[in-house]
Amino acid sequence: MDLLNVSKSRYTTKAYDPNRKIPQQQFERLLEILRLTPSSINIQPWHFFIADNNAAKQRIAKALVGKYAYNAPKVLDSSHTILFCTKADISEQHLATLLTQDDLSGRFKDEKAKQGQKDSRSGYVDYYRNEKGDIQRWAENQTFIALGQLLLAAGIEGVDATPIGGFDEQIINQELGLDERGLIPSVLMTLGYRSETDFNAQLPKSRLNREEIFTQL
Ligand SMILES: Cc1cc2nc3c(=O)[nH]c(=O)nc-3n(C[C@H](O)[C@H](O)[C@H](O)COP(=O)(O)O)c2cc1C
Repeated sequence: MDLLNVSKSRYTTKAYDPNRKIPQQQFERLLEILRLTPSSINIQPWHFFIADNNAAKQRIAKALVGKYAYNAPKVLDSSHTILFCTKADISEQHLATLLTQDDLSGRFKDEKAKQGQKDSRSGYVDYYRNEKGDIQRWAENQTFIALGQLLLAAGIEGVDATPIGGFDEQIINQELGLDERGLIPSVLMTLGYRSETDFNAQLPKSRLNREEIFTQL
């Protein structure tokens, strides 16, 4: 299916068939697409928690209480749920890990090229941290690119999905020890197959029209 048709046909699944599981090989493909998400200066400021069994999904569902309770069945009935986290800050250690990976991937023809990448990346991080003063927002923006990438990938693979921003951040923080790992929870995504009773599958898509959102210069 081409991307335009996927964009039209994918939708936010509100109810899942609890008996259907995404084949492992296909899920691995989705994870690989997720890993390949592009980010500003290739900063990859994310970490993903994957729940593919009942006990793991129950842990995530702990954060789906009170005003977020409507999202709990989506997680519990999904085939897989992924919590997208963002690094709370960009550490020197993370920058070193990225540089080592760039090197291992064969991106530097010599030490000078490696040093150039190191300096340029640090320069941008310093700019976002000190001059713009919104490094966390910048980092989290990257994580949301990953959300978009996986949503479209799921559509192409014929897997239903739900992006979920409605969850209790404090509870998920505590449950998974995110603070200690220097992470903030950004968004959840459930994956699986729609239930026959999903009312949202029948509703037409609604988007603002072109005149509203595009300005031709
Ligand atoms: C960042 C983000 C957070 C969202 N959070 C929720 C949520 O907590 N619960 C839910 O049912 N849908 C959630 N949605 C789904 C949106 O309501 C949905 O994408 C939007 O209405 C467009 O509909 P469509 O995805 O069916 O095209 C979220 C979507 C995004 C992108």
